[in-house]
Amino acid sequence: MCGIVGYTGSQQAKGILIDGLQHLEYRGYDSAGIAVFDGKDIEVVRRQGKVAELVAALGESDCTGTCGIGHTRWATHGAPSERNAHPHTSCSDNIAVVHNGIIENFNELREDLTLKGHTFSSDTDTEVVAHLVEDLYRGDLLQAVQEASSMLVGAYGIAVMCAEEPGKIVITRKDSPIVIGSDETGSYVASDIVAIVRATRDVVILEDNQFAVATPDGVTYFNRLGKPIEPEVTHVDWDIDVAERGGYPDFMLKEIHEQPRVVRDTLAGRMSGQEIVIDELSLTRQELNFVDRVYIIGCGTSYHAGLIAKNLIETWARIPTEVEVASEFRYRNPIITPTTLVVAVSQSGETADTLAAIRDARIRGAKVFGITNVIGSPVARESDGVIYTKANKEIAVASTKSFIGQVVSLTLMALMLGRVKGKLNLAQTRLLFAELADTAEQIEDILQNTEAIEEAARLFEGKSSAFYIGRDLASITCHEGALKMKEISYVHAEAYPAGEMKHGPIALIEQGFPVVAVATQSPTYDKTISNLEESKTRGAAIIAIATEGDTDIQKVADQVIYIPRVRDSFMPITASVPLQLLARAVAVNRGCDVDQPRNLAKSVTVE
Ligand code: M6R
Repeated sequence: MCGIVGYTGSQQAKGILIDGLQHLEYRGYDSAGIAVFDGKDIEVVRRQGKVAELVAALGESDCTGTCGIGHTRWATHGAPSERNAHPHTSCSDNIAVVHNGIIENFNELREDLTLKGHTFSSDTDTEVVAHLVEDLYRGDLLQAVQEASSMLVGAYGIAVMCAEEPGKIVITRKDSPIVIGSDETGSYVASDIVAIVRATRDVVILEDNQFAVATPDGVTYFNRLGKPIEPEVTHVDWDIDVAERGGYPDFMLKEIHEQPRVVRDTLAGRMSGQEIVIDELSLTRQELNFVDRVYIIGCGTSYHAGLIAKNLIETWARIPTEVEVASEFRYRNPIITPTTLVVAVSQSGETADTLAAIRDARIRGAKVFGITNVIGSPVARESDGVIYTKANKEIAVASTKSFIGQVVSLTLMALMLGRVKGKLNLAQTRLLFAELADTAEQIEDILQNTEAIEEAARLFEGKSSAFYIGRDLASITCHEGALKMKEISYVHAEAYPAGEMKHGPIALIEQGFPVVAVATQSPTYDKTISNLEESKTRGAAIIAIATEGDTDIQKVADQVIYIPRVRDSFMPITASVPLQLLARAVAVNRGCDVDQPRNLAKSVTVE
């Protein structure tokens, strides 16, 4: 979603801000802008569309100066347009603000400020912050921002500059991430480490209601009461290349190819002696033994990872497990007792719905365990324990490697619960762990043989809809495959349990209608084939993900994509890979922007 970057120092700010904004593009946005102090005035340039359009609009002489703030906006209040793009300025143009999040009481504030004579020039909630700070400004920007923030209701990460205090950026946050760092040239602020990691790997992750004052000489920090504080510095140790495409045409393909590494890294050190080790889990084995219900919450792909885990936890540990979309969970009245374990799954660790659900679950007395990809993210910090998925930074909007990291992490958790509950013996656990580890090599095999996937993608030419069908875990895998197809190719893809087709969806089948089937699972294989026959008879073009050596499937499928033989429980890990590649191939054929699909944001930080 929205992205913030800021710099103050000895360098020209424009290039640094643009570079930061380009690295924030993956989050999804619809307009971009920067504000730079030129020694006299704050100059603002904004454009609807991509950062490239902002760059084109910035003349050589525009926005010169060494202190500035920039923003990529994903519209919430006010349509995507130049006038609604950030930075926003006050009436005098002396105050410029960039903001992530939503100011919920902006209407009241706007009315009050209008009565005081302020004139608004956008439809956004953010603009009230610029006017409010202007209204409260008495020669001290920090104080004005502190007073203004005490009047804001909602979520915000804010960076503010003032023409009367050259070289200073005041920053604060509530429920919206902000990181701050410095190098020998000056100080940086961003909403995401990826925007500033080339300048510094040592960052402060600002806490809610803290304030920072960035100047060319460094940054000072204050708590909510205005008292100076010494914040903790976090070292970012991920490879800087993660933020580059590394020779791949897009980040999605690069990230798909990283998946064998993600499996290996996620499993490294997890089998000690003969037991599964998840030290991060804040519960003792005895406490875990008392767990009699598991809730898994997440959104989108993370929700799908939870659905897979439900199957594994119920199979191996025999603990009833519910999986809920986070935005639904929090508005229900879920049955939570002291022996309920809530597992929150979130790649970004900042999804607003998931965070709200975590808070709700904790208020109800549950222990919450987070599975996230982002160190120090709100999900990590607000959970009782956390597993990091070791996917490294994921840039493409469509989750791929983080999904595999989530499924592998949840599989470990299911194995551990199985052991603790005494439902899996040591030999079974070791065998399952070894087979889970083997999926890394199996994914490598899949990645080396993609001709059949390219062929299958051709069956989507001129098509606007498709079905994805399978049974049991294959059906869940189809949900994830269909989500990938929808997100990046804009083909309307619906996933169904294969047995459901005849109860309605089959009415849509006509000549050439693509039906993607995951047909690898042993107990339900024959039934799935029968369901495929039903679609085939009505003209469907069948694309089957099948197990190597299965020649029977060729009788019903127009195109078969073979994957290595794998235990049913681990099939979602391997079968998801060709589905990711298929979605990408269709998107590329259709000329879509694979990494930054329309209307979508990488992190959904609004409810
Ligand atoms: O960061 P999160 O895992 O909490 O994000 C949840 C969803 O927004 C995310 O999985 C989304 O569905 C992806 N675009 C899927 O590819």
